[in-house]
Amino acid sequence: VAVEPFDIIVFGATGDLARRKLLPALFERDLAGQMPDEARIIGVSRRPMERAAFQDFARDAVEMSDGIEDARPARLAHFLDRLDYVAVDAQSDAGWADLARLLDEGRDHVRVLYLAVGPDLFDPICARIGEHGIVTDKTRVVVEKPVGKDLASALKVNAAVGKVFREEAVFRIDHYLGKETVQNLMALRFANALFEPVWNNAHIDHVQITVAESIGTAGRAGYYDTAGALRDMVQNHILQLLCLVAMEPPVSLDADAVRDEKLKVLKALTPITEANAAQLTVRGQYRAGASSGGAVPGYLEELGSSTSETETFVALKAEIGNWRWSGVPFYLRTGKRLASRVSEIVVAFRPIPHSVFDAQAGPIVANRLVMRLQPDEGVKLWLMIKDPGPGGMRLQHVPLDMSFASVFGVRNADAYERLIMDVVRGNQTLFMRRDEVEAAWNWIDPILDAWRTSRELPKPYTAGTWGPSAAIALIERDGRTWTDDA
Ligand code: BG6
Repeated sequence: VAVEPFDIIVFGATGDLARRKLLPALFERDLAGQMPDEARIIGVSRRPMERAAFQDFARDAVEMSDGIEDARPARLAHFLDRLDYVAVDAQSDAGWADLARLLDEGRDHVRVLYLAVGPDLFDPICARIGEHGIVTDKTRVVVEKPVGKDLASALKVNAAVGKVFREEAVFRIDHYLGKETVQNLMALRFANALFEPVWNNAHIDHVQITVAESIGTAGRAGYYDTAGALRDMVQNHILQLLCLVAMEPPVSLDADAVRDEKLKVLKALTPITEANAAQLTVRGQYRAGASSGGAVPGYLEELGSSTSETETFVALKAEIGNWRWSGVPFYLRTGKRLASRVSEIVVAFRPIPHSVFDAQAGPIVANRLVMRLQPDEGVKLWLMIKDPGPGGMRLQHVPLDMSFASVFGVRNADAYERLIMDVVRGNQTLFMRRDEVEAAWNWIDPILDAWRTSRELPKPYTAGTWGPSAAIALIERDGRTWTDDA
């Protein structure tokens, strides 16, 4: 779909996110014909750099990105032509007038200011954007996570951004919301009549959300050590997934209609505090082990510190105190250097109330709906059926299996591709509103406090496993098991 002319200004243009995600995503959108001729991409960072050097950086970023199938020189050259570069200093006036002048050449363009920088720079950058008259009626700002490291700092970041931008112009990005299956969750729930009537505590036994990574801290140990798995993954991505599973049907897909419903879920999360954190949470940190067939160092070796208490794994048992979900545990887990890269949401239904089958039929396993986010996006509905053949009534547990790649055979756009274009179009549905981010921190903060008070160290786990055994005990204590539908 065509969009109006736009300029995307990437602050932190030579950083990790720009290189790994933003520049390749913008290239893909250009390739797909979604960029009008006038569209410009302007890299901004502190380091003085020629335009040609930034173009080289972008070329490398595109060529090194795995997902790109077609980086033919002519197409790439066309993309690189859109690029420009301005050095500005967030802490002084240096460079800002140059940036304002360059932007003025596209005064009527949609203007997207993408802050791919550390959270301590949000405030000074926004202030200078305001002072230099860079905000037009069609200007939007994209704020990358982490929005703060606790509620107090998130309030400060939101206030600093709010001084310069209206909430309708602020796009707090959570790239998990741009993933294909995550959006499919809404399609599955609200475009089918089948699931909604059973989507409650009368029919659902529990929900599991796993976001497992096989990589370690991948060159980001400095940032990661100040965050840990709870802040890095749970506060944002996993809670957003939980909200989409648990929210009431919104009246429409309007941004505020959806965000109002997600906010209610966040506010209904039962607090985890000092009194129950030991029963409801497990923290882990990886030690040396093996991953993808090779030996890998432990977290402390990677970091070069022997004292870090940062968790690289967390498992939680969360509860939502409302009519729909009371009594249905949501088991959440995420970690680095786990046995494989797999992210999925498992909705486990209750067992049948009474069996008409005899013992020969074999065990009857409760139904499960599994939404696989990555890899191999798809949806599986596990059912019991009769084993084919004349051998009598024997039952089997089999999936109705819909793998998106085999059914549709299309390339799945990266989450950033979709989300950046949503910003250009001004659609906030897949972005977090200020109160949502704050409500999420409000639930996370007491967990962080409880961990601090307990002074318990994260439990060690060997790289390449499913985390500390305490995480398995967390769910098995309730007579359930983690399901891995690999
Ligand atoms: C980021 C986290 O938000 O998400 C990273 O900061 C993590 O630590 C990444 O690796 C995972 O994203 P994806 O899309 O690879 O699952």
